[in-house]
Amino acid sequence: MKAPERADYSMTASPGAALPVAVRGEGCWIEDADGRRYLDACGGAMVMLLGHCHPRVVEALRAQAGELTFTYRFSFRNGPMLDLAERIAQRAPGDLEWCFFNSSGSEANESAVHLAVLYWELLGRAGKVEFLSRVTSYHGSTMGALSLSGSRWRAPFELLLRKYAVVPNSDTAEEGAAALEAAILSRGAEHVAAFVVEPVTGSSGAAVPLPDGYLEAVREVCDRHEVLLVADEVITAFGRTGRWFAVEHDGAVPDVITFGKGIGGGVIPLSGMVASRRLREVVERSPGGFSYGHTFSGNPLGCAVGSAVIDTIDEDGLVDAAEARGDRLRDRLEELRTRHPLVHSLRGRGLLQGIELRASDGARFPASAGVCGRVAAEARAEGLMIYSCPTPVGTEHMDALMLAPPLVISDAEIDEVATRLDASLARVEATL
Ligand SMILES: Cc1ncc(COP(=O)(O)O)c(C=O)c1O
Repeated sequence: MKAPERADYSMTASPGAALPVAVRGEGCWIEDADGRRYLDACGGAMVMLLGHCHPRVVEALRAQAGELTFTYRFSFRNGPMLDLAERIAQRAPGDLEWCFFNSSGSEANESAVHLAVLYWELLGRAGKVEFLSRVTSYHGSTMGALSLSGSRWRAPFELLLRKYAVVPNSDTAEEGAAALEAAILSRGAEHVAAFVVEPVTGSSGAAVPLPDGYLEAVREVCDRHEVLLVADEVITAFGRTGRWFAVEHDGAVPDVITFGKGIGGGVIPLSGMVASRRLREVVERSPGGFSYGHTFSGNPLGCAVGSAVIDTIDEDGLVDAAEARGDRLRDRLEELRTRHPLVHSLRGRGLLQGIELRASDGARFPASAGVCGRVAAEARAEGLMIYSCPTPVGTEHMDALMLAPPLVISDAEIDEVATRLDASLARVEATL
């Protein structure tokens, strides 16, 4: 049955565009009001770890909703918060153990910024309030998190933002360490609180992992200059890359990991940070406490869901599955690369995979051609959701796509993603 015409007072990211009205989600599929089904190969913005409406997650939400739905962080702890923090501390690398929960990835990064400033202030280093991040980065859309970001999203707000994203991308660990050190020295180490980095880029670069050894090399630079290292794992934490945390691919332990997106099971906004015992021992002594937060920080509904997500990932072996299914997806994409001149190169880890698109002579397209957006639009017409990443690279423009399907995706569904993407690429190629 067709959805009846109705007035629309809702604001979306594309005002004026009649996006389909979604009505139902199950596993890797979303259905719209016209009964069309979409294979969700990107979880919107890399959100879905367990697929839509996973029964165990929905049940956790329902059960918690009948027990306790809200506490205020200055007044109470709550059971789900303690349970989730314990699960994360058990799985986080090194001495990372101290958890603080919020709702969005942006808030998670804001909380890491506040924690870093407070840590240095408590050590008598109140001047350490600057942050550094990479030119290709996205850390969120609140003003602090956007200040950390180098991506296209900051342009309209430039005058409101600090310019923290100054560390150039590098092809090797040595270059990366040298670039970070130069940035620290140019600001003055006595002013720099932390370096924030994504282990695998998301919307700003389409699934580019850090070069081998990069994290260890920048860890050493940070230690030498007394700068904290924050890993933004808003997209990558909890199995996406085939490890509980993506920093495990590199072996270096940051001082803080921020997370978001998938931990809420796609049913509730949930994010957070896990900080090291070293930071905890200092910040716990703060006379003013840790005053940063939001009304819904540590919300029991979100935290109950987070524990159900972790338990399901654990019991269903989804961290290892992400690696194996990522290999299958990569094989299918590799087949597409051999047949489609538009597919220039592939990168990614586990079930976070990126595709760079270029002309058959290897040249990049101008931004005005909107090539990656056109492939994503064709894919949608094929009933396949993929993430389009138009990205500035210096003075050039990069067209890229990202795939981040739920970790529960079946082999048949992975093959179906490739089949639909094949048709979408062919239709755009025919127009070039
Ligand atoms: C790496 C990274 N950090 C932070 C964020 C911000 O998260 P949110 O949109 O939930 O605020 C995003 C969102 O895409 C992200 O990809």
